[in-house]
Amino acid sequence: MEMYKTIIAKQLSSLLEQVTEEEIKALMAYPQHADMGDLCLPCFKLSKLYRKAPQQIAEQLAEQLSGDIIERVEAVAGYVNIYLEKSKLVQQLVQQVLNEADKFGARNIGQGKTIVIDFSSPNIAKPFHIAHLRSTVIGHALYRIFTFLGYNCVRINHLGDWGTQFGKLIVAYRLWGNEQRIAEHGIDELLQLYVKFHEQAEHDPSLEEQARQWFVRMEAGDEEALQLWRRFVDISVAEFKRIYALLGVEFDSYAGESFYNDKMERVVSELKHKQLLVEDDGASLVRLDDYQMPPALILKKDGSSLYHTRDIAAALYRKSAYSFDKAIYVTDYAQNLHFQQWFKIIELLGYEWHKDLLHVAFGRVSLEGMGLSTRKGNIIRLEEVLKQAIAKTKAIIEERNPTLADKDEVARQVGVGAIIFNDLSASRIKDIVFSWEDALSFEGETGPYVQYAHARACNVLRKAEQKFGEIEFKSLGAEAFAALTDEASIQVVKQLAQFSEKVELAMNKLEPSIISRYTVDLAQSFNQFYHHNPILNAEENVRQARLALVQAVQIVLGKGLELVGITAPKEM
Ligand code: ARG
Repeated sequence: MEMYKTIIAKQLSSLLEQVTEEEIKALMAYPQHADMGDLCLPCFKLSKLYRKAPQQIAEQLAEQLSGDIIERVEAVAGYVNIYLEKSKLVQQLVQQVLNEADKFGARNIGQGKTIVIDFSSPNIAKPFHIAHLRSTVIGHALYRIFTFLGYNCVRINHLGDWGTQFGKLIVAYRLWGNEQRIAEHGIDELLQLYVKFHEQAEHDPSLEEQARQWFVRMEAGDEEALQLWRRFVDISVAEFKRIYALLGVEFDSYAGESFYNDKMERVVSELKHKQLLVEDDGASLVRLDDYQMPPALILKKDGSSLYHTRDIAAALYRKSAYSFDKAIYVTDYAQNLHFQQWFKIIELLGYEWHKDLLHVAFGRVSLEGMGLSTRKGNIIRLEEVLKQAIAKTKAIIEERNPTLADKDEVARQVGVGAIIFNDLSASRIKDIVFSWEDALSFEGETGPYVQYAHARACNVLRKAEQKFGEIEFKSLGAEAFAALTDEASIQVVKQLAQFSEKVELAMNKLEPSIISRYTVDLAQSFNQFYHHNPILNAEENVRQARLALVQAVQIVLGKGLELVGITAPKEM
């Protein structure tokens, strides 16, 4: 069944002839005040097209528009203001949510299409810090959103597991490495070695040269070098997987940068073939002056490959392995130039699919004014943040709901939910100043607030079932739904009606925060509704209708949270 906005847009476009349903939909808006209707169409843009005054167009449309979900239509100051038949609207919408349940808002616009999402992609031998959380959370939400809209998605963790930094780590390990400390502290010990390398290299520049040589040995397949490198990878991946388990994030592939070692020749030979590769003081690069960009280094003097080279190799590989319709890369905007450069190189290589490569950039994370630097050891470890959030939640549960079943799992869901939601509460491109206080806040516009509204809905439904037995919503008739025409109920219904639009918008803008903000709005209006309308003590018809609405809210809040990667417990 279609949403009322679609039904009305269809009718308007048939009245207007020269304008499509989609165009009308884009023009339509939800008025801020109820006395301006439930839906409106500003006629100013149409005025140019038809060479008529906006008010004249509005009046004509108002006269002709009709239908069983429309109560009345007014033309005011160039707007068509549409007032909906509340009880019809409520009945249709609530029934639709209940019927479609888990599928409400789902679409199959992506059917047959594949999207490769490259996200999270932390660097080996460095602790997983909160800047990588952003890529993980945004990428994972995009994965869920695209999947919900019918796309086939491939989740790739392009681990930073190759590069000169491993040469540094090998040097540090051979000089100061201590097996016992590594066994005890894992990746933290690797970080210490890395930090120490940089401290010492300031006094002793020969260390840098040794590091370069070790990396050259790695690239040449030297067994001793590779064995050390593999240990670093194993220790790191074990830690990453622990964090992904806490976050509830999974990947289809962990093919990191090293995976492309044997796929680099193709890049070099194709670039040569197209005469794009230029020798410069022993190194090879692609000039991009014509596109107002600095050159992209492809091979260093010593023949070793770079971040660019591996990204180009990965894209060629992914295109043939997955034949994607779109490939998405989620990193902070500090990498804008990097992606612009190599996307351009793919274009110059003659691949028309260069236009299907998409960099989804997000803002940087700083720590109360300071940047985060792995080299100085000045980082906030994500695992620490998650553990604190979980512990805090556990303490709250012990205090408020000590008999709750599965306390640890609920504490994980809510604690982690708070952190994920905090990350998604603003547009992705905004910079974030990390604050422990905000991340661990459960009041106001937070994940736990929405989770709590969801649990409250579950709670009411459970109580109703205990008291009155199973409720058969399907048999509810128009008389019952007439009980849902008060302002608070209508507000909830209108928000439910916008769910699928929001999901689609979030996809088009690659902006999961559209959904997280939507869930806050819905939770707020649900709380208003709950506050104003007694449910369990209302007379039967009214009670049933209100319960139906509660169930609809529960479904949509749960789905909204799920789409941004958050689990909604039934009780908390
Ligand atoms: N490892 C990189 C970093 O931590 C992110 C990799 C993003 N993906 C890619 N294909 N370049 O900054």
